[in-house]
Amino acid sequence: MSQRESWATRTGFIFAAVGSAVGLGNIWRFPFQVGQEGGAGFVLIYLLFIASIGFPVMLAEFVIGRRTDRNPVGALKQLGSGKLRYAGWLFFTTGFLILSYYSVVAGWTVRYVLLGLQNEYVGDVAGAEGQFLSVASGLDAVFFHALFMLAIIAIVGLGIQRGIELAVKVMVPAIIVIMVGMAVYVFTLEGAGEAYAYYLSPDFGYIASEWQSILPAAAGQAFFTLSLGMGVMITYASYLGEDRNLAEDGLIIIGFDTAIALLAGLVVFPIFFSAGVSPGAPGAGAVFVTLAAAFGKLSLGGILGAVFFFTVAIAALSSAISILEVVVSYLIDEHGMNRLSATAIISAIIFVVGLPTTYDIQVLNLYDLLVNNILLVFGGFILAVFVGWVIYDFALDELSKGIGDLGPWGTTWLWLLRVPAVIGLAVVVLLGIIEYYDFLVGDFATWFGDNF
Ligand code: PHE
Repeated sequence: MSQRESWATRTGFIFAAVGSAVGLGNIWRFPFQVGQEGGAGFVLIYLLFIASIGFPVMLAEFVIGRRTDRNPVGALKQLGSGKLRYAGWLFFTTGFLILSYYSVVAGWTVRYVLLGLQNEYVGDVAGAEGQFLSVASGLDAVFFHALFMLAIIAIVGLGIQRGIELAVKVMVPAIIVIMVGMAVYVFTLEGAGEAYAYYLSPDFGYIASEWQSILPAAAGQAFFTLSLGMGVMITYASYLGEDRNLAEDGLIIIGFDTAIALLAGLVVFPIFFSAGVSPGAPGAGAVFVTLAAAFGKLSLGGILGAVFFFTVAIAALSSAISILEVVVSYLIDEHGMNRLSATAIISAIIFVVGLPTTYDIQVLNLYDLLVNNILLVFGGFILAVFVGWVIYDFALDELSKGIGDLGPWGTTWLWLLRVPAVIGLAVVVLLGIIEYYDFLVGDFATWFGDNF
């Protein structure tokens, strides 16, 4: 067998991981979750989850990947015992499902870039909604889904150094620069002040009454945005050498991801408020509809919108390649397939699995809720149990490589995994299941009854 690939440089790994973390989750999903879950209170709880559970779980993934030099399925098989040996399959399945609809949403963003360039955003919410429906469903959506999958195949097919590493070194700096530029620009819009107040001052009464829905949403969002709970960070760390300080890298990655999510809010909410459209509209389409309506009203909105959606599209691309890499690395490591055929075959299947979500946004919600509120957090729960309670000796040893003496931090890390992460995530998975059930028998059943 040929030698396993690795990152060429330190920044290559960091860029790739930041590129994976920063994506639709930050710029599309985060603002609509904030709108749906009542504003700043959600942001606060989300930040708590990132720090107390997200960071420890990220380190857990890093140590597993670097220790084994393997894809998630192979890594857990090698380190685990009993049923835990098969947990990698959960990650494989989750990755597969995420990418199938992630690419569909990414396809919409490409379409919205084109609409902006042609100055075709419709400036009222009803009109924008009609426009969104034609973008998000039917053959248009299928076409752009296919286009986006082809872009991912091209990058992942080229491999770690020539494909992923090269692509992220261009894309990640571009995302950061454009987002900062946009935040500065929207600061000058009328209504910006009101938007910041909505976005930045938490309503504790609202948190107290709606925590059952805020908690799973915030935890799911934390996992989704950090690309945790499905083995991306296991896979990326498996291409690392041993001299790296994983804790430091993790902090850098989380810092960038959080900054870009908060920045996306600073960009999006002033645009809403200045165009006089409500930020609270729920659902996966909301950000597209509301933003397009807002861009349609602003002077220079076409260009501004094109730049915005372009940023979202490249952010999505640098995330999507990391998801595909998880499944591809499995086929390469465990079945000795060559990279190009593994990439092409699995992408074709993922493309097909995504097709139902182009039928109607409700089907997309069905995928998205399952992944976010249940699968990713369940994946995180398994990782916390596994590293915190089963392989902790290995884990501490592996973490200390590149750091040296961990001092009290090693045990702090383990105990964060053992108790808050395990209990917190178990609760969140249960709440997520209840929410999902409500959705299935409620909104989804109604929609299904009306359509079939
Ligand atoms: N973190 C990515 C985003 O914010 C999404 C993602 C989730 C990527 C899970 C990989 C794994 O868009």
